[in-house]
Amino acid sequence: MAQIIAVLDFGSQLTQVIARRIRENQVYSKIYPYATPAATLRAEGVVGIILSGGPQSVYAKTAPHPDREIFKLGVPILGICYGVQLMGHFLGGVVAHSTAREYGHGQLTIRKPGKLFAGLPRKLRIWNSHGDKLTKLPPGFAATAVSDNSPYSGIEDVKRGFYGIQFHPEVFHTERGVDMIRNFLVEVCGAKQDWTTKDFIAHAVADIRAKVGKSRVLLGLSGGVDSSVAAALLHRAIGKQLTCVFVDNGLLRKGEREYVEALYKRNFKIDLRVVDASKLFLKRLKGVTEPEQKRKIIGRTFVEVFEKSLKSIGGAQFLGQGTLYPDVIESVSIAGNPASLIKTHHNVGGLPERMKLKLIEPLRELFKDEVRKVGSALGLPKEVVWRQPFPGPGLGVRVMGDITAEKLEILRNADAVLQDEMMATGHYWKVWQSFAVFLPVKTVGVFGDERTYDYVIALRIVESIDAMTADWAKLPHDVLQKISSRITNEVRGVSRVVLDISSKPPATIEWE
Ligand code: XMP
Repeated sequence: MAQIIAVLDFGSQLTQVIARRIRENQVYSKIYPYATPAATLRAEGVVGIILSGGPQSVYAKTAPHPDREIFKLGVPILGICYGVQLMGHFLGGVVAHSTAREYGHGQLTIRKPGKLFAGLPRKLRIWNSHGDKLTKLPPGFAATAVSDNSPYSGIEDVKRGFYGIQFHPEVFHTERGVDMIRNFLVEVCGAKQDWTTKDFIAHAVADIRAKVGKSRVLLGLSGGVDSSVAAALLHRAIGKQLTCVFVDNGLLRKGEREYVEALYKRNFKIDLRVVDASKLFLKRLKGVTEPEQKRKIIGRTFVEVFEKSLKSIGGAQFLGQGTLYPDVIESVSIAGNPASLIKTHHNVGGLPERMKLKLIEPLRELFKDEVRKVGSALGLPKEVVWRQPFPGPGLGVRVMGDITAEKLEILRNADAVLQDEMMATGHYWKVWQSFAVFLPVKTVGVFGDERTYDYVIALRIVESIDAMTADWAKLPHDVLQKISSRITNEVRGVSRVVLDISSKPPATIEWE
């Protein structure tokens, strides 16, 4: 039986981050609803339990409480933040209720390293986010670390293997937090560090098969990282029971549709249906110049075309989606999670409900970098796994103003040259995004002996961590020169190339 570290979810938005830190340590973990019976945990082979944080006070009427039998299972327990207060509350300590939250950076002083803080410096920067706090230790416990305003920032009961920390070791702002988690997993629970991406895939495949049975799954494939990895994983699990739909909205990059067809249809042998709706999209976009309006038309038309094509395929019970954890971070993630619902997940316009399809989202507990690892392990090429983001409205927001087939063709050709050079020089992998923008401005040029009067292409090449802010990439001049001269020489209809040197903010990455 696999060794499992159980994370009991008391509603913290950081629960998945704890699970991720456990995976980073190559240990298998599972998130369970907070009230999961101790007997279930025992039956599943749990070798250690982490009590997550949570937004409530242990005294609140609706406070989530665990099955108190978990404290008698004889397995080590680590309480984090609200988790510590639960330990205090259930094991005979005192928790002081406070309406004022302690939030942000603090300093931890370790008095007694024990197993949890073994190998760590005595003073560490930590991240706090709590209201209530422990004011009297439960019997059997000793204080191991203090912070500026808590004498019980770290506590332990070595005999029972119970540990508690008032701050959040799972967040990046806590120095050496990952080491504390590793210490708990390895030194306290004795977990083996042998959990790999392959194991994730094996478990996911088994889960998908169990859930789907003999049913059919439909999945909208965009060609982006998330839907591609979801498709490859579902295909590994259920093969021919998966049908993917790729909508050609006429706003794709050069060769994109052919690439997707070759990779998934021929290489992966996935049942892929390509729906050519380019004429419809272009018809609806005709004469539309306002960016938001363009986006709305593209979004609406997509949902309409997608839904119609799914109906025509018919006979499916599930809709597969490449939802990642950051997409659901603000919505209720699992049954029994009391986290307040901040944002309902953006399913394709309520489509699953309308079509009575159940959702299957095999990546919903993963973060982007983990999804990339899964994609590579499933045999997807680097070009897919590490591809740059591409907006849903596609070239529709990269042709400024009114969209026509001619302008799209020019932009596609210019963009292909840019990508070609970015790939050839390796800069493609170093920047966040690199793309061409079509400017509906004609300027004078000279080509051979002839005067030309043609359009302008702007190059948008940016560096970024998360697209919230971005800076223009300082590419070597010779690379820029080659891109520019190739575009003006090879792309008909372009006489001038300009470089966008705006950062975000105030400019956005996309031009519309
Ligand atoms: P902005 O232009 O807002 O872009 O700085 C930030 C990031 O989001 C991408 N983007 C979109 N992605 N649908 C998408 O799926 C959209 O409508 C959309 N608009 C912008 C953009 O490419 C960049 O990575």
